[in-house]
Amino acid sequence: MCGIVGYVGESPISPILLDGLRRLEYRGYDSAGLAVLTDEGVAIRRAAGKLRTLEELVEREPIEGNVGIGHTRWATHGRPSEENAHPHVSGDVAVVHNGIIENHTELRREVRESGLELRSETDTELVAHLIALELAKGCDLREALLRTLGRLKGSYAIAAISPRVPGKIFVARANSPLVLGLGDGENYCASDVPALLPYTREMIFLEDGDLAVVEAERVSIFNLRGEEVERTLRRIDWSPSMAEKAGYKHFMLKEIFEQPRALEDTLRGRLNRAEGKIFGDEIGLSDETIRGINRVLFLACGTSLHASIAGRYWVEALAKIPAQAELASEFRGRDPIILPGDLVVVVSQSGETIDTLLAARLAKEKGATIVAIANVIDSAIPRLADAAFYTHAGPEIGVASTKCFTAQLANIFMLALHLGNVRGAISPERSAAFVEALAKLPQKMHETLLASRQLASSLAKRTRDAQDVLFLGRGLSFPIALEAALKLKEVSYIHAEGYAAGELKHGPMALLDELLPVFVILPRDEQRERTLSNLEEVKARDARVVAVATRGDEETLEKVEDLLDIPEVEPELSPFLTILPLQLFAYYVADFKGTDVDQPRNLAKTVTVE
Ligand code: G6P
Repeated sequence: MCGIVGYVGESPISPILLDGLRRLEYRGYDSAGLAVLTDEGVAIRRAAGKLRTLEELVEREPIEGNVGIGHTRWATHGRPSEENAHPHVSGDVAVVHNGIIENHTELRREVRESGLELRSETDTELVAHLIALELAKGCDLREALLRTLGRLKGSYAIAAISPRVPGKIFVARANSPLVLGLGDGENYCASDVPALLPYTREMIFLEDGDLAVVEAERVSIFNLRGEEVERTLRRIDWSPSMAEKAGYKHFMLKEIFEQPRALEDTLRGRLNRAEGKIFGDEIGLSDETIRGINRVLFLACGTSLHASIAGRYWVEALAKIPAQAELASEFRGRDPIILPGDLVVVVSQSGETIDTLLAARLAKEKGATIVAIANVIDSAIPRLADAAFYTHAGPEIGVASTKCFTAQLANIFMLALHLGNVRGAISPERSAAFVEALAKLPQKMHETLLASRQLASSLAKRTRDAQDVLFLGRGLSFPIALEAALKLKEVSYIHAEGYAAGELKHGPMALLDELLPVFVILPRDEQRERTLSNLEEVKARDARVVAVATRGDEETLEKVEDLLDIPEVEPELSPFLTILPLQLFAYYVADFKGTDVDQPRNLAKTVTVE
């Protein structure tokens, strides 16, 4: 939520800051701004609306300097407007901020009483004023920032500059991501890796409670007590082109088609084909721990929760361990019970979603062993976990998650298979068959995408005026129904519901009429017969039915006008394929409607506020 970028060095600064913001626009996009240290002091440019408006402003009123910070905003406190856009200034200090300051009411009162004028409705402006008040007491900027941080409750990533300390950016984080990028005679900071990829791959991920000073020749990191601390330097293997559209109209479409490659990268080095098992080292659990697991609990939000629901089925089927998948926000909303032998698997693309992070922290405090499945290395959730089992999907820029969903499915399936093997819950033959089937999946995904592209697009054209769409599935197709509905809602703004087909008669049946498109997901598995009966029930109520089924399923084909088919695959692996035509369908509906596919209204890629 919101993006921050900062630069210290000799290169022209506006293009670097604006380019960084463009690469972060997916994190927030209702206003943007820059602050640069110039000979006259701090120069500010801010504009409401998309980044383009700020770019035009900077073209008309250029700024140059060697130290600058930029911000793209997703409104939390205060509507999207120029006054509320960051940077916020108090005295000679300019501040940008991601996150939410929870004790803002109390701080606002204090700032007002001190006689300072509030020009915006934001909590960020309060941070700028608090720093200015501390500076007025005679301390330096680092000390003023440290003292201010000690007053803040909530989450933040902050960057501040001031002409009183030329050549430096001060940054700090708590529950909101912040990364430093190291160059040659120039250094950077950003809220997310893609902003920096064209400039450097040498990065340091700050930890909660870190305060860093970024200068052209060095970076120094301190804890909240002001003591200097060491943080590991990482080399990121994502390339800048991975964060480009590569000729596709939208990132979402590119990322949908990237899935075979993302899956291949995610499986690479993990399939032990010689022994028909998974190389489980990265999962980080000893065989003894695995044998002692009594329950697997998945915690996640959004798309990651849907991958986790598939995980529940797989852990039960392959490892014979009771499993649950829970919304992270609800888990931490009560006093959940964690028992000895609980393995908590925390699934998060960004590794930074605040509800997931806080749920993981709670589970850890209660004594659970935590395995993180994340796509962004060294992000907060994997850092907190006992082990990090990364997906290798590359940077995902479209706000609606696609390639990270199937990559998460892969890691979760491999985890379930590994648990099953160590516990002897699955036969070596069945395990080996799954390993072979996983190795063939990227090719099958590729075939599915090519084969369904046309029909998904023509269905989208016919469905773009629908008010509501229903997706039905049983077993492993239930999370796919949920995910398909979420994709459609996110990008096309059409109301959609994903339902367990068995629940049809308990409510949604009342919605059926000739105007309601219903997608029934019924690959060849042991649920198919029952779902087929539900399909008949839907048809009998005149609803428009589309099936997602296995190629050659004549029986289903006879019953529907449109069938999106997937190649023959092991029933347990069908989610990897059934989701593909439905992602394409959601994309094309949105494209026909002309919505902002990669940056849907009101949404953000990484949700770092509760
Ligand atoms: C946001 C994104 C979704 C994502 C969810 C969880 O809502 O728009 O695409 O599924 O957050 O994010 P995570 O990074 O934890 O997987």
